[in-house]
Amino acid sequence: MVCLGNICRSPLAEGILKNKVNPNATFVDSAGTAGYHIGNAPDPRSIAVAKKYNIDISRQVCRKFTNADFEEFTTIYVMDKSNYDNVIAQAHNKEQIAKVKLLLNHIDTKITEVPDPYYGGDSGFEDVYKLIDQACSNIAKTIKEQQTNG
Ligand code: 4NP
Repeated sequence: MVCLGNICRSPLAEGILKNKVNPNATFVDSAGTAGYHIGNAPDPRSIAVAKKYNIDISRQVCRKFTNADFEEFTTIYVMDKSNYDNVIAQAHNKEQIAKVKLLLNHIDTKITEVPDPYYGGDSGFEDVYKLIDQACSNIAKTIKEQQTNG
């Protein structure tokens, strides 16, 4: 799960998807394309909205996306088109580019990007939570089907 700062959207996406998959079978992580907040905990507003839905993201630590992530992960979900551009700029080949998907391609909505809530109020975090939650439900369903079908 990748966003710009790795303190608002992608920590939520990491926590939400982790909560929907078998942790012994699926590894979920998050990173940011920018390095502004490396080593920091998620934004308190993300921690609060996750807590409201009984998900604890408070112990996550911000890190920066690197090319090694293309090898470590089967799929890289990005929150918006700018994240997409920043991530594929670090790709070395077509296979790596093909791993990168917009998270909201996984829900039936006209909205294609998870809006950046950093400069807005608390309601932005609630909206972002709901969008990410819907997408992660669909992703978790697909992962379970793949794991069941081998
Ligand atoms: P995020 O939000 O990409 O969802 O983590 C942001 C967090 C911090 C900044 C921008 C976006 N920033 O400019 O510091």
